[in-house]
Amino acid sequence: MRSYIIAGNWKMYTTPVEAATLASAILEQHERLQPPHSVKTIICPPYTSLYAAREVIAGTRICLGAQNCHYENKGAFTGEVAPMMLKASGCSYVILGHSERRQYCGETNALVNKKIHGALRDGLIPIYCVGETLIERQNNQTLDIIRVQLVDGLKDVSLHSAEQLVIAYEPVWAIGTGLAATPSQAQEVHSAIRAILSEVWKEYGARVRILYGGSLKPENAEEIFTMPDVDGGLIGGASLQAESFGAILAVACHLAVQ
Ligand code: 13P
Repeated sequence: MRSYIIAGNWKMYTTPVEAATLASAILEQHERLQPPHSVKTIICPPYTSLYAAREVIAGTRICLGAQNCHYENKGAFTGEVAPMMLKASGCSYVILGHSERRQYCGETNALVNKKIHGALRDGLIPIYCVGETLIERQNNQTLDIIRVQLVDGLKDVSLHSAEQLVIAYEPVWAIGTGLAATPSQAQEVHSAIRAILSEVWKEYGARVRILYGGSLKPENAEEIFTMPDVDGGLIGGASLQAESFGAILAVACHLAVQ
């Protein structure tokens, strides 16, 4: 049986009231689909909506994630949120290194590496995002860029922690553009990611879960999820509607039991 992770990145959308409504609608889809245990559903609301979403999904198999964190577990860091605080707020996952944070907040591989260590220290599972820009792809630099993001971003992460880690391949040119990677483009990079990780973590490279993200929708989920090295999706726009998120989840449920 194949296992899949279907994660929704709500980005900077939803007030607490809207988050509760969306989480309830997603929970309805989840209850209707009854995903097998090999399919995991994660929702990642903005910080201020974590509590509201958590209230709705408490006691269900839907997991909660955040979209960022600081690397320290407390301190004089105005405006920041510690991994330990997210853990105490019900999060099990945290998205780190998203291209929007790299692009708009100047996050580097070195900074994201510190955040990954901080998250792991405090018991959160990082969903580490990597991906190339359009220019980098056009210049045939995709795999070089991904290698640097993996090697620098995951520097000194232990074999034991690596077992937990989730990687998300999100080509920057596919995010929010409606232009998803083709299944073969995704597969090529996912298998390269596995090969690069195997150099560091040997056989664990084969087991690391790698999600695809970038204009995933119900119409393209099946062709992408059937690729051998794709273990699910990190979904932006389509995760803000319970129907489309549920339809993508349904694809994973269907493929998992085939
Ligand atoms: P879209 O699904 O809106 O393209 O966003 C993908 C993404 O950035 C998920 O983290």
